[in-house]
Amino acid sequence: MAEDLSIHKGSKQEQYESLIPQIQGLLQGENNLIANLANLSAALKEQFNWWWVGFYWVHEDELVLGPFQGPVACTRIKKGRGVCGGAWEQGKTLVVEDVEKFPGHIACSSASKSEIVVPVFKNGNIVGVLDVDSEFIAHFDETDRVYLEKIVGLLP
Ligand code: SME
Repeated sequence: MAEDLSIHKGSKQEQYESLIPQIQGLLQGENNLIANLANLSAALKEQFNWWWVGFYWVHEDELVLGPFQGPVACTRIKKGRGVCGGAWEQGKTLVVEDVEKFPGHIACSSASKSEIVVPVFKNGNIVGVLDVDSEFIAHFDETDRVYLEKIVGLLP
């Protein structure tokens, strides 16, 4: 496995397209969940330099903070709470253009202005979520949804 990521500039789509095969390389042959979530967070942070990117994982009736890149964050989120708990409850990706307009948004950092949360499915069940925060309003769109859903689908 190459341990250096090759960072490409260009459109958002081009950046994702160049990153995906590298992520496949990072995950290949590694079944340890923490190792894979950690490398996935790091690869996304390195390519896009988002404010915060990481995982919350399902433990009983809560999401618990997992591997991430960025400032310290809240550790536990109940189902239905915030954007993360909402994506878990609704079973779908939530794209939030302005977190201040999202009822119940959990502000781990006042710098965060927009957010996307992508559920991670295993055998038809949600086992965790990928959460990405940006310090810019309306930073995430349909392109991010499509590619981030593809990327979490690469987890073994
Ligand atoms: N804002 C999230 C909480 C997690 S932090 O952004 C890292 C939410 O509303 O679920």
